[in-house]
Amino acid sequence: MDSFAYRHHKLHAEDFPLERMAQEIGTPFYCYSTETLIRHHSVFCEAFTDRDFLLCYAVKANTNQAVIKTLADQGAGADVVSEGELRRALKAGIPADKIVYSGVAKTKREMAYALEKGIFQFNVESEPELYQLNDVASRLGKVAAIAFRINPDVDAKTHAKIATGRAENKFGVPLKRARAIYADAAKLPGIRVQGVDLHIGSQLTDLAPFEQAFHIAGKLVEDLRRDGHDITVLDLGGGLGIPYDQTETAPPLPHLYGQMAQRIVGHLGCKIICEPGRLLVGNAGILVSEVIYVKKGEDRNFLIIDAAMNDLIRPSLYEAYHEIVALEETGANPVTYDIVGPVCETGDTFAQGRTLPELATGDLVAIRSAGAYGAVMASTYNTRRLIPEVLVKGDSYAVIRPRPDYEDIIGLDVLPDWLD
Ligand code: LLP
Repeated sequence: MDSFAYRHHKLHAEDFPLERMAQEIGTPFYCYSTETLIRHHSVFCEAFTDRDFLLCYAVKANTNQAVIKTLADQGAGADVVSEGELRRALKAGIPADKIVYSGVAKTKREMAYALEKGIFQFNVESEPELYQLNDVASRLGKVAAIAFRINPDVDAKTHAKIATGRAENKFGVPLKRARAIYADAAKLPGIRVQGVDLHIGSQLTDLAPFEQAFHIAGKLVEDLRRDGHDITVLDLGGGLGIPYDQTETAPPLPHLYGQMAQRIVGHLGCKIICEPGRLLVGNAGILVSEVIYVKKGEDRNFLIIDAAMNDLIRPSLYEAYHEIVALEETGANPVTYDIVGPVCETGDTFAQGRTLPELATGDLVAIRSAGAYGAVMASTYNTRRLIPEVLVKGDSYAVIRPRPDYEDIIGLDVLPDWLD
């Protein structure tokens, strides 16, 4: 469910007509809906009512301050993977004691910053990281609260580039060595072991791999408690998928995910943490773009739009499907298009063989489900400017990141004195 719907044949974001927004700020741009963000947050939290639960929004999915603040105001914590993300989360008002820090390569500097801020938990992914964290914490006179991210070696049945829970993936500590690693950690003065963490992948459309992984984590919590560890936190990671393609069966809803999780690990009495990213923001955003040309190829029609792979890389990188619609329901004859951007690469293709009502130069289209891993993965490739982000609330909107000037990109380069 999202808040982008047609009214009088024109696509609106909540109560605001997107065509007018396009006229006012120019294309392409990302547009997010406050209502959808809030609804997705509350739907997820409702799946875990009546228990000690913390939703840590995986800010990597969309790091705009206004998006994080909207979720922070609903009580969300954050899952961060870098000092930059930690700074963004804190700046947007997420209290440090609601922040967990994931990632395989935390540096000393990042650890020190997070310790000074007093985050809730480090999700430690290796033994070298454990020892380094102990050193940094001891030096600062702090104790780092940690969970180990375990690698349960389960097949998440998602795109290979976003599966993280197989033994061949770089993430987490091997399950087989987990008890020995916890035993070592318990001896370190700068470390306080408090939890177990996992994250098996992203855009999962089936509960079975989650269930398998949660069983493994639950069993580990019991074993660790028998070994004498005080395990009070279970971080289940993120990964629940969203519907991208309306013609396919939708992934399970959060309440089913929540029921399953409670069934598998509820009896342990742990504080449950979930780290959803895409589920909160994915369908809360669209990318609006204008048709530059319609070009007749040898055997196909190319719809060339002003957004490109540098703005939204998911179709190029993961062959991801995004629904693309015309902003206006014209009733024109259906035409099949390959929808492509201006970048000089064949991979700059959003979709092939899509049927839309016939479009012409100047018409507007929306790429749906673009709120997660869209703007955050953008680049200035081909010296294209990053595109604006807009947040809608009811019948008003605000530009939450303006379109930069060309000089903001080109001016970053510095000539060495011998070229001056
Ligand atoms: N927790 C950890 C430790 C993660 O690595 C991730 C995502 C999440 C939570 C949030 O997962 P989500 O709920 O959003 O599935 N760029 C890719 C997705 C990469 C996901 C990386 N990790 C894409 O566009 O599909």
